[in-house]
Amino acid sequence: MTGAPSPDRRRFLTAGAAVLGAAASAQLWLPSVARAAESPLPEGVFSLGIASGDPLPDGIVLWTRLAPDPLHGGGMPDEIVPVEWEIAEDERLRKVVRRGTAYARPEYGHSVHVDVRGLHPGRSYWYRFRSGGRISPTGRTRTAPHPHARGGSLRVALASCQNWQHGYFTPYADMLAQDPDVVLFVGDYIYESTPSSAGPRRHEGTGEPYTLVQYRNRYAQYRSDPDLAAMHANAPWVVTFDDHEVDNDWAGEIPQDPDKQSHDAFVARLTAAFQAYYEHMPVRATAIPDGPHIQMYRRLEFGRLVRLNVLDTRQFRSDQVTSQAAAEDPALTMLGAEQKQWLLDGLHGSPARWNLIASQIMMAETDILPGDGKLWYYDAWDGYQVERNALLDGFASVRNPVVLSGDRHLTMISDLKKDFADPSSDVVGAEFVGTSISSNGDQDQAAFHAQWDPLKADNPHWKVIDAHRGYHLFDIRRDGIDARVRAVDTVVAPHATASTLATLRVETDEPGVQVV
Ligand SMILES: [Fe+2]
Repeated sequence: MTGAPSPDRRRFLTAGAAVLGAAASAQLWLPSVARAAESPLPEGVFSLGIASGDPLPDGIVLWTRLAPDPLHGGGMPDEIVPVEWEIAEDERLRKVVRRGTAYARPEYGHSVHVDVRGLHPGRSYWYRFRSGGRISPTGRTRTAPHPHARGGSLRVALASCQNWQHGYFTPYADMLAQDPDVVLFVGDYIYESTPSSAGPRRHEGTGEPYTLVQYRNRYAQYRSDPDLAAMHANAPWVVTFDDHEVDNDWAGEIPQDPDKQSHDAFVARLTAAFQAYYEHMPVRATAIPDGPHIQMYRRLEFGRLVRLNVLDTRQFRSDQVTSQAAAEDPALTMLGAEQKQWLLDGLHGSPARWNLIASQIMMAETDILPGDGKLWYYDAWDGYQVERNALLDGFASVRNPVVLSGDRHLTMISDLKKDFADPSSDVVGAEFVGTSISSNGDQDQAAFHAQWDPLKADNPHWKVIDAHRGYHLFDIRRDGIDARVRAVDTVVAPHATASTLATLRVETDEPGVQVV
């Protein structure tokens, strides 16, 4: 959203620029006495890049992590290192509006999270870091619109599932060109799988990560993808994790394979995985982990246009069931009682035109049994029928609920029905499952359609299903959401061509989604 500064504000900036302009050159960042005491750091200390996230109307989180030897623990001395930061209203960093010094601590992998406040709503800012005589690249970010802003538009990119070994993260090059206001990443930022030579790229290390250093190395490798790094440097991200940031299909404190990982060992693994997640993501201090727990569900507001509810569908869920009958057990929970109440309160009390729900896993039904009867995936919302159905029932009294999901490694765009067991029941919302950045690689499209097209009759709520790699792009305005499925022709090569595979529209106050 674009908001021009007020005339008063503009005057202040012009006056301030003359003073701050001189100070913006790198040599003048610190008084010379302080600089003399500063230990020099090696080249490549900013090799993990820079990022920003969780925009507020007056604030943004700026992120970096000092790591001159990123794939081997980071390579920093075991001491606290000062990191200067500055944020400006112009690309050349002449109109600096805030600056300060953060401290990169060894116990957080020398990551830096600066929670900048005092910014203006709905505008772009540029920022950079400086430490040990080294200067980071300059990043661009954007604050959220004014809390009372009702109009304008918000461009959101929905991404998930970037498996390093399955391909290059080429969709981000196209995403960058589309210039979203915010990137929403709904999980599988890394994969914990062992290194394999079967794909175009190979994981670092010798096995799955279990320790903090191993997870750090895995994140560092992922951040070396140039398209991912550029997207982080050019727009704020809102992130949440799914399963692969820890272990495939984990639930609460239960690993995928309890016979191979004891409870204590898995709690230690969760602790390491969450710590590394915090260290590498542009999130606020509220997400500093407390042992094996991390606070990730949260709300972000984009004026009166959009309320974004970011869910955590892993930490509080019941273990996955293994049968159709068990999926209908009312004792099962996906969100846990506290998060569920938080979500319902946030949906029903929302002042926003659009109520987005970032759910890692798919909410609409996937019936994979052709003909009579149903067969569900138990890791998705289908495996938690009673809680999912109650939520959908409540959507009828929520204004414009739209669910944004990942996990499936397919594009699946659906109407959300009040009751999927009753074909005549009302449509209460829409869901976009945003394929994957690279996971599953370049899929055989003919094989996909041969497998999935026969299931369309069993899933009449599906509007688009597709197996290309890419992401979804949403232009959100008061009167509707225009959505595009952006796909790349390949992820097995470092460069790709992107195109729009499908265009869809969600009309305000008309539940459901239409192919345009
Ligand atoms: Fe995934």
